[in-house]
Amino acid sequence: MGHAEPQVATTMQSFWMPFSPNKEFKAEPRMFSRAKGMYFYTPEGREVIDASAGLFCVAAGHCRQEIADAVYEQLQTLDFTAPFLRGHSKSFELAQRVANYTPEGMNRIFFTNSGSESVDTAMKMALAYHRTRGQSQRQLFVSRERAYHGVNMGGVALAGMVNNRRAYGPGLAGVYHMRHTALPEHKFVKGLPETGADLADDLLRLCNLYGGENIAAVFVEPVAGSFGCLPPPKGYLKRLREICDQQGILLVFDEVITGWGRMGAPFAAQAFGVTPDLMTMAKALTNGAQPMGAVAARQAIYDTITEAGPAKGIEFFHGYTYSAHPASCAAGLAMMDIFAKDRLIERAAAMSPKFIDAIHSLQECSIVTDVRSVGMMAAVDVAVDGAPGVRGHEAQKRLYDIGLNLKSTGDALIIAPPLICEDSHLDEIVSKLRTVLKGL
Ligand SMILES: Cc1ncc(COP(=O)(O)O)c(C=O)c1O
Repeated sequence: MGHAEPQVATTMQSFWMPFSPNKEFKAEPRMFSRAKGMYFYTPEGREVIDASAGLFCVAAGHCRQEIADAVYEQLQTLDFTAPFLRGHSKSFELAQRVANYTPEGMNRIFFTNSGSESVDTAMKMALAYHRTRGQSQRQLFVSRERAYHGVNMGGVALAGMVNNRRAYGPGLAGVYHMRHTALPEHKFVKGLPETGADLADDLLRLCNLYGGENIAAVFVEPVAGSFGCLPPPKGYLKRLREICDQQGILLVFDEVITGWGRMGAPFAAQAFGVTPDLMTMAKALTNGAQPMGAVAARQAIYDTITEAGPAKGIEFFHGYTYSAHPASCAAGLAMMDIFAKDRLIERAAAMSPKFIDAIHSLQECSIVTDVRSVGMMAAVDVAVDGAPGVRGHEAQKRLYDIGLNLKSTGDALIIAPPLICEDSHLDEIVSKLRTVLKGL
């Protein structure tokens, strides 16, 4: 089966693996030793097609020479400088180039090192913005069931996935959840479902219960990604925007997965025609080659916070030692060149209908209970076998064994290939999925 030798496993004890069944993995490791383009390679040299772009990161395909060269050169020129009170030109340049892709007016970019940090940063921006405007009573946050907003304590409180919360107690107080948007009639729908926009009125209910004037921000993933690709009902995000405007609440799109082309537009905000006030991103910003995240803010939010600060003092007390790390900025800039040169976003838009049809063809497998899709992301649910998640977990192991890598959450198999994916790759992904789905 191509698993590492047992003696390799004995050297694996020290690494406490994140989000992984440590005992099972160390007894039965599934490793990669290199990658190129659409493929990973196992230590034995077996090819494994990457159907999840690493983890929604590798939009431009693995091991891009341009990024490797840029990072190498950067590390030999300026390896590190603190981002506080000191600067380097690439951070300013990258922010400007990112702002060329964000919706109009969302042109102030704060760098972090991950999606989780971006989420907590956006929470602080919302609180600081309201406080600056004399509305410090706005301390509450609203998010949604089945949401994933990373693993920092703010994001855990926003999360709507029980396993990401249950070990940690209540987390932050004052976070309330709207219902998720997956309705029974959405089964096997391609793209955005027609029904369910009225679920956005949950926000109104929470405003009526807790006082809209007390809510700082609403966080949503435009398409819930980690739970298993839940596209928003048509009109849902627009309705959220309207309620936020009426109530003076900031709307935050967590675009850690949906950003950078996955929806066939730079961001889901443009794909769905709804502009938030704050937007998080990470992952494909550097093609996953260096850790980096960011928050894009409406200029008015930056201006409000910055102008209220002292003439020569810090205006926003927040930042990470590695914010705008030179090597991450170099990787990000190389990635901006690749987005333009390879027309990755246009490619995603062109490939999406074919991708969606191909993945939906799997609904013929008797074990498949639902397929959802939008842009270049889809999820296939398999029937629960005994306990929830058991069959999904087994599926992702068998897929690795026959040469396909993807992310599973519970019994949902999430497919989100690199945006360089071609027809032949799509055929290979669907054929391997079909083989495993028929044999489960
Ligand atoms: C919507 C969303 N927010 C936040 C995160 C957390 O990002 P990270 O793992 O980089 O901290 C993720 C990760 O998948 C995500 O999908």
